This record gives sequence, C-alpha cells and structure tokens, in this order.
Amino acid sequence: MTFLKASSLASPHLLGIENLTPSEINLLLDLSEHYVDMNRSGSKKTDLLRGRTIINVFFESSTRTRTSFELAGKRLGADVINISPEVSAVRKGETLLDTALTLNAMHADLLVVRHPESGAVQLIAEKVSCSVVNGGDGAHEHPTQALLDALAIRRRVGRLHGLVVAISGDIAHSRVARSNMLLLKTMGADVRVIAPPTLIPADIDRYGVEVFHDLAEGVRDADIVMMLRLQQERMRGSFIPSTSEYFHFFGLDRAKLANAKPDALIMHPGPMNRGVEIDSDVADDINRSLIQEQVEMGVAVRMACLDLLTRDLSNNTGDEA
Ligand code: NCD
Repeated sequence: MTFLKASSLASPHLLGIENLTPSEINLLLDLSEHYVDMNRSGSKKTDLLRGRTIINVFFESSTRTRTSFELAGKRLGADVINISPEVSAVRKGETLLDTALTLNAMHADLLVVRHPESGAVQLIAEKVSCSVVNGGDGAHEHPTQALLDALAIRRRVGRLHGLVVAISGDIAHSRVARSNMLLLKTMGADVRVIAPPTLIPADIDRYGVEVFHDLAEGVRDADIVMMLRLQQERMRGSFIPSTSEYFHFFGLDRAKLANAKPDALIMHPGPMNRGVEIDSDVADDINRSLIQEQVEMGVAVRMACLDLLTRDLSNNTGDEA
C-alpha cells in the first residue's frame, strides 16, 4: 500500500492513534528506523534537542514506558526530568491541572503524561502551551506502544497490510488493545480480538475487528499473536472465575499456538503475568517471541516522537487538542 508522504505531524501533541493518518504513522515509523540504527551504533547520542526540557509526569506505575522516554530524551540531548505523584505536590492535594500548569510555567518544551483516567492527558494538552505526549491514559490510548508494536512487526515481516493479527486478553480495560486496533486497521491489517465476553468492550463494533471467545479458534492461521495482561487495577468487580481457569482457556501455550501460522510471532507489551495469559515456554522462545525487540523498538519510537513534536515549537498553541 502506498500513501502520500507526510513530513510533519498535524497536531503539536500525540494523544492517540485515533487522529493519525496512515502517512503520519509511516513518517513516525520511518524516522524510528533511523533511531534503531543510531541506538545500535557506537554513538547513541545526538544534541538535536539540546536546550529543550522534557518532563515525564507518571501518575501510574511504569517500567518500560517511563525508562524509554527518559532514555529517548537523553539520547537526543534534551534535559529530562521525571516526576511521580508519590514525591510531588499531588500528595498535598494539588489538582492534575494545577500540576500541569506549574510545569508549563517552568517552560517545559514537552510533557509526557501517564494517568489512570481516560481523557486526563487530553485535558492537560488543552491547558498547557507545550507539546504533550500520551504515555497511557486509563483504558483509552497508549499511542507509542502501538507504534513500537507496529515497528517491531514491520521490521520482522516487512509490512503491516494484509497481516492477520490476533490480540488476546483483557481487551475491555486495555489502552494497548485500543491503540493497536486503531493503528493496525488504519494500516490495512486484519485484526481479531479474543477474550471472554466479560472482557470485550461494549463499543467493539466501532473498531472493525473480528471477535472470538476461544483462543485456539481466534489464533487460527494468524501471523501475529499479541497477548495482553488482565488489567486487575481497572476492574471493578469480578470478570473471570479465577486466573488458573483463565490460563486454561485463554493462556497462550504451545498447544494453542499450534493453530496459528507455523512461523507466527508472539508479542506482549509487558508487564507479563506468566502462567496467567502466557506460558514461559512460548514467551521465552527466541525464534518466535518479539517481546525483547518490542522493548528495543520502544526507545527508537519515542525518540522519533520527541524529534517530530519538537521540530516546530512556534506552531504549538495551548488551545489545540
Ligand atoms: C502497558 C500499559 O501500561 O498500558 N504496559 C506498557 O506500557 N508496556 C500494558 C499493561 O500494563 O498491561
């Protein structure tokens, strides 16, 4: 599939995959390739963002996302600061917007925000005068995760278009599932989601994906099998009988994977719950698992996002969404 080539992003913020065009997605992925090469080379550092200030504001726990945004900013030469609610004035009752406005007043050039509530990052973007990147908001979106997943697939398989991608797990509470459904459909992949009926979101029809309630069935002839964690922290009430029963029906093991294409690749955004949604035997299979590569791609994708969003700061106005 060929698309018109974009040379910049239309929005000063990256809040989700939802409003990205195929050419913007390709632009981000192509630039990420450049950063993969750079990260693998001897000199991992440039001074492209020298003098720029990036603040990572994580109101929810994170290992991969926060660390890779920090590495990305530092490798581009920016000054990077991390703040988390445990040590910030949020503990003293400051509101989310007051925190954001405080950081904005310090002339940050870009804020990376993770928040447990869907929509919170957009709210911040509407109030500040710098760029905002969504590092994951509630069950809504996690755009850099979907981009890094797409990059890992594209590099290994050579394309996204026409691939059968089966996403299994807690689709209802997963921002990773949402951003991936949007990106993969935009880029022409066939997307399936697999979960017990209680973990399929009510608005699934809007994504144009096929729904399965049986893992062995859902992965049949798939090119990619993406496993997701049960988002217990977002569940209010009981959605599955028990984790051992969940593994029996929805945990990826060799036997269920045998239904996918013989060379199907396994993905997981992490953190993994081994023995719940995925068996160690398949998670650690170096020939089939893309999990470590996903982490590597995360740094490159975040470098590409920071690079593109800081290119023309004069365009950034506080009233754009
Ligand atoms: C995901 C997240 O935070 O949404 N993790 C990540 O960013 N790699 C997935 C998850 O928490 O299950």
